[in-house]
Amino acid sequence: MVAAGAVNGREGWSSKTAFVLAAIGSAVGLGNLWRFPTEAGENGGGAFVLVYIACVILICLPVLLAETLIGRYGQDSPTLSARKLAVDSGASPLWEGVAGVGILTATIVAGFYCVVGGWVLYYVGVFAVDSVSSGVTGGALQGMDVDAVSALFPSLLESPSLVVGLQLLFVVVTAFFTYRGVSKGIELMAVYLMPVFFFLLIAITVYGMFSGAFGDAVAYLFTFEPEKIDGTVVLAALGQAFFSLSLGMAGMMTYGSYVGRDVNLAGTSGVIAAADTGVALLAGLCIFPIVFAAGIAAGAGPGLMFQAIPVAFQSIPGGSLVGLLFFLMVTVAALTSSVALFEVPTAWAMEKFHVSRPKAALSMIALIGALGVFAGLSFNALAEFHPLDFIPIFTGMGMFDILDTLTTKLMIPIGAILVCVLVGWVASDRLVDAENGLSGWLHRFWRLLIRYLSPLALVLILIYGLFA
Ligand code: PFF
Repeated sequence: MVAAGAVNGREGWSSKTAFVLAAIGSAVGLGNLWRFPTEAGENGGGAFVLVYIACVILICLPVLLAETLIGRYGQDSPTLSARKLAVDSGASPLWEGVAGVGILTATIVAGFYCVVGGWVLYYVGVFAVDSVSSGVTGGALQGMDVDAVSALFPSLLESPSLVVGLQLLFVVVTAFFTYRGVSKGIELMAVYLMPVFFFLLIAITVYGMFSGAFGDAVAYLFTFEPEKIDGTVVLAALGQAFFSLSLGMAGMMTYGSYVGRDVNLAGTSGVIAAADTGVALLAGLCIFPIVFAAGIAAGAGPGLMFQAIPVAFQSIPGGSLVGLLFFLMVTVAALTSSVALFEVPTAWAMEKFHVSRPKAALSMIALIGALGVFAGLSFNALAEFHPLDFIPIFTGMGMFDILDTLTTKLMIPIGAILVCVLVGWVASDRLVDAENGLSGWLHRFWRLLIRYLSPLALVLILIYGLFA
């Protein structure tokens, strides 16, 4: 029997709201909470934020719409949807490779994403124990000095069993929701957890307003200094925006394939992009007041969340409990995103090999889990293993960095360029009709962006990634 929200004989979202929440859940993740503040901190604060917003509106939003349109057009696995669109437009079925690149990218990203998910679980554990043992009203991690709190992170990374164990835990929890399916797993999770996420984010931001250096954070993120904008800032912002909106990874194609034909995808894409960008900005307003109040610099790098934040919670009132809530919030965001990443290869495997969802979900535990084990061990047991030293952009990198660089610098831009070419040139106007919310000037503007501006910008990211 086919479920109530069935789309093209497959399971689908039960409502438009469910789709929007699940897509926001996919977009809002470690990219917003971990990468955005780090990138903003390293690339000049306000200058980065302004360029980021421009990139989202002019370059990413057209691609987001294109991906969901491809998915909804075929209402099938990403490869079949892309193939149908190409064939119906009189082009080669090989265009399904557009989705193929995305599926491969999503699988690889899922591999290292779950490693970071494991780190988040570690800090949930640290703050949970701390809240119980030291009482929730004082600062966190009482009795430890600042260096000892900072050292928690490197000592976590040095432990193969902790890193791999927590990564596998994260993989299994994610796969559980994949196993439950679109409406009973992914949708249910998004509908219950996204409101919790928003509540926690707003509550912690308000807390930062009163007990952190909120004015400094606002000045830092929103003081626009045009002279700070250069090629590096623009390309960092663009790359971050693509990752944050889950683009170039067939993720939005997959989620779009579960949407009914009555939904206005231009409208929902706007809502998804606005929510994701809003969360990134709120994440900055949530994290920087706490970091600045502890006297830590904005450009603390990737350790911002895992070192600076725990140190900051140590010195502020209620730090134990707020620290616990903070890392629970990050867990929710990471989980709703990793479920989206898992769904991409799962939907593909179910269609390609005619396997049941439970079997596909179990295979993902093995495949993504194994990739993640390699990535996780690159911080400890395999620290000296640099298998691609002979390729300049991978020189000196372990598996985690290789997977990260390979996907964010090469595969995501390539996948997204292919989406632009398929939708903007090969299929041209086939995807456009009034039900998609694209008519008149909006359609003409979108076509201009998807044909010229978005692919051009993506080619620049690619060149920069390869040669800079
Ligand atoms: N957009 C997510 C983040 O910002 O963390 C990452 C992601 C999730 C990418 C799902 C791709 C995807 F399909």
